[in-house]
Amino acid sequence: MSKLITLKDKQFKPYILECDILEAVKKMANVINVELKNDLPLFLVVLNGAFMFASDLLKEITIPCEVSFIKVASYDGVGSSGTVNELIGLNENLKGRTVVIVEDIIDTGLTINRIAEILYLKEVKQIKVATALLKPDTYKKDLKINYVAHKIKNEFVVGYGLDYLGYGRNLKEVYILA
Ligand code: IMP
Repeated sequence: MSKLITLKDKQFKPYILECDILEAVKKMANVINVELKNDLPLFLVVLNGAFMFASDLLKEITIPCEVSFIKVASYDGVGSSGTVNELIGLNENLKGRTVVIVEDIIDTGLTINRIAEILYLKEVKQIKVATALLKPDTYKKDLKINYVAHKIKNEFVVGYGLDYLGYGRNLKEVYILA
């Protein structure tokens, strides 16, 4: 756990090991398999960041389910200050469905709350939120985050789907600014 990596102009150090991520994701899947076994959930994966987490999570889901992918479009740019205005790729009829939003990281919660607002307008039955990472010190919204693999401190991280200026998404561990 000592190998520094460089992405563009910044150095990062290992923060969460692959085995610890996978263990937490498996535990999460086990809980979902019990809690949603009669709900025929639709897992809605938020691209790009959640692709790796979604892959690991869904391999451990054993109940009947559907999987689909969305991208969030924002007029103000992406990142924590962005305003989500549109969900691209949402083709399913969501009326009466149980939707599990699959996210990479929840920081201020602005993104996830806006996604939830849009989904409720489509008359979903219930929304559950599953995230690989949560920054509890920054998240102050009311929407319940049901499933969290790892709670982390309020610092910038990369890897496991998350990027710094487009780089680092392919790393299988989570790294933090060195
Ligand atoms: P929120 O709307 O503030 O919750 O931010 C959510 C989005 O910001 C995530 O989906 C990421 O794209 C990005 N983000 C927030 N924190 C980080 C981080 O530490 N590293 C990389 N991306 C982040």
